[in-house]
Amino acid sequence: MTETAFTGVHRNPLVPAPTVPAPTVHHREPALRAAVTGLPGYVAGSRAQGALTAALASNESHYPPLPAVLDIVQSGALRLNRYPDLNAVALRARIAKFLDVTDHQIAVGPGSVGVLQQILTSVCDADDEVVFAWRSFEAYPILTSLAGANPVPVPLNADEGHDLDGMLAAITPRTKVILVCSPNNPTGVAIDHDRMAAFLTAVPPQVLVVIDEAYVEFVDAPDRLDALTLFRRHRNVCVLRTFSKAYGLAGLRVGYAVAHAGLAEGLRRAALPFGVSALAQQAAIASLDAVDEIRDRVNLVVTERRRVTETLRATGWALPDSQANFLWVRAVGERQEALMAAFHAADVLVRPYRTDGIRITLADAVTNDRVIMVLAAMTASAA
Ligand SMILES: Cc1ncc(COP(=O)(O)O)c(C=O)c1O
Repeated sequence: MTETAFTGVHRNPLVPAPTVPAPTVHHREPALRAAVTGLPGYVAGSRAQGALTAALASNESHYPPLPAVLDIVQSGALRLNRYPDLNAVALRARIAKFLDVTDHQIAVGPGSVGVLQQILTSVCDADDEVVFAWRSFEAYPILTSLAGANPVPVPLNADEGHDLDGMLAAITPRTKVILVCSPNNPTGVAIDHDRMAAFLTAVPPQVLVVIDEAYVEFVDAPDRLDALTLFRRHRNVCVLRTFSKAYGLAGLRVGYAVAHAGLAEGLRRAALPFGVSALAQQAAIASLDAVDEIRDRVNLVVTERRRVTETLRATGWALPDSQANFLWVRAVGERQEALMAAFHAADVLVRPYRTDGIRITLADAVTNDRVIMVLAAMTASAA
């Protein structure tokens, strides 16, 4: 039998071909799933090209790796011929100790976005629904569609924070997961503890609520969300964290979920084998051991966040209260184009969201002053 085209049907050459008519062939090449062809594609922040470029488009840590991490990476290079620990036993135990949970309740992955993919593919069947705020982290609709589920975006409130009542109203019998991002990327607005606690009491117990806390270390609000307390209280809550932001390990790819033991076990089974490198596992442990140094770096960002926010508000910019390591400037259309041109001229890379605004990652004071100059000049010329 001669195959005229790839039809997607497995044919064993040792088994005679069935005597049914050949199916009509529409494609002459392997086809992608509609869920994939319809994807918008993840848009990463632009990468810096020059040494003087201020790279403020990707919410990374502005500071270089800790000395302990550099040692690990240098000495670990000699063992790159070896696979990492499949089960990340030491890292899971260290995270569990750090958070006062058990290692059965920890699942790690290649960045928290990798863990989120494990969650959605483990929990969603075709046509289930995943509710999230919008605008929020742009991986949410992509990973939802890839899992075969339907994204249900709920617009943010006027204050750029989650509309939790709207999200409750969006729940249907098909809702499997609710993604809550606090502080929210890209607006920086955080959910306070009491609002989140009340929200959880209203969510049906079979719906998984994922609290994505990628920026939790930067939160200093007095009423800040204590997601781990809510995790202990509710069987349907899971918390996502990452080493990419405050810990400065974005390039090594490691994040984790704190989940109840059954879900955590499922996530470990659904994980890409060996997805977290040995360097990433060891660097994450070293970073938890250096928590004081990390806290000092976080404090620098939080102090700058306050200064830059106050300065920009004084020049007329109405910024929302960011609790993260970035600021959000609402600007669309021609105003956004003008702002992007001004940032470009100043060699400052920021992240535009065409229909909504511009996100600017905070850095050191000198770099942040370049941002202030661009934005202040804009309000001055508009006055
Ligand atoms: C809200 C949120 N969650 C998760 C991530 C993923 O981070 P990573 O995969 O590097 O851990 C990001 C990164 O931008 C984010 O903003």
